[in-house]
Amino acid sequence: MNEAPIGIFDSGLGGLSVWKEAVRLLPGESIVYYADSGNCPYGPRPEEEIIHLSEEIVKFLLKKNCKLIVIACNTATAAAISYLREKYEVPFVGIEPALKPASLATTSGHIGVLATKGTFKGKHYLETRKRHAWYVDVHIQVGDGLVEIVENGHFDSQEAYLLLENYLKPMLDKKVDQLVLGCTHYPFLIPQIKEIVGDRMKIIDPAPAVARQIQALLEEKELFASENQAGIYEFYTTGILAMLQRMVKMITDTREFNRSNFWKIGEE
Ligand code: DGL
Repeated sequence: MNEAPIGIFDSGLGGLSVWKEAVRLLPGESIVYYADSGNCPYGPRPEEEIIHLSEEIVKFLLKKNCKLIVIACNTATAAAISYLREKYEVPFVGIEPALKPASLATTSGHIGVLATKGTFKGKHYLETRKRHAWYVDVHIQVGDGLVEIVENGHFDSQEAYLLLENYLKPMLDKKVDQLVLGCTHYPFLIPQIKEIVGDRMKIIDPAPAVARQIQALLEEKELFASENQAGIYEFYTTGILAMLQRMVKMITDTREFNRSNFWKIGEE
């Protein structure tokens, strides 16, 4: 038994889509979530800067005694996971666009990937594409502006619909039938995406698969917490505390929210 918390971080609030699945699958685990909203978005930043920001967060999570760290950010995984795995002993779980299930499921032979510039630039993406999606047509689209929309909670804004239409209509024209959400912020826009694509595309959110991977790694390393009590949740942000609280409130039930504590970095 290991009662230490799991650490989860993202450039901002997007990783909460992974947090939610982890809580659902592993209710006995305590989790420390770090939202780097003050430095969000990571997507357009140079790789060295993303590595530096990620490493500072990892140091923070290690001080919180985290037994496993989840990089709930495709962009930070692409830039920093190899470096971090080499330097730190703690086990890491990363996230990358789910090209394999999309390629296996497509009947049109066309899959779409919506992600940040940083994710598409990473060698992980290129390797995964070569390994698992070589036999399909992959249509990629940088989702500029979508991360900011989610950070600000403007899900239903006109801007959100306009951007999504611009990004998704060309994919529909190309007969894309599987849409891979390659950024953890995007699942918060699934209702809006569905309004645009209807049932013409299946939307693939990798969060449940990442939660299963966390579970498998906890099992392999014998790091499970006892299941006798519910986990407690700590949330830290470099951005605006109220925005983080609002988002957590939106995705939790009352019991989970009552076990949640919030801090602004620098004021904890
Ligand atoms: N949630 C991050 C990801 O999965 C957003 C990246 C960004 O901040 O641009 O890629």
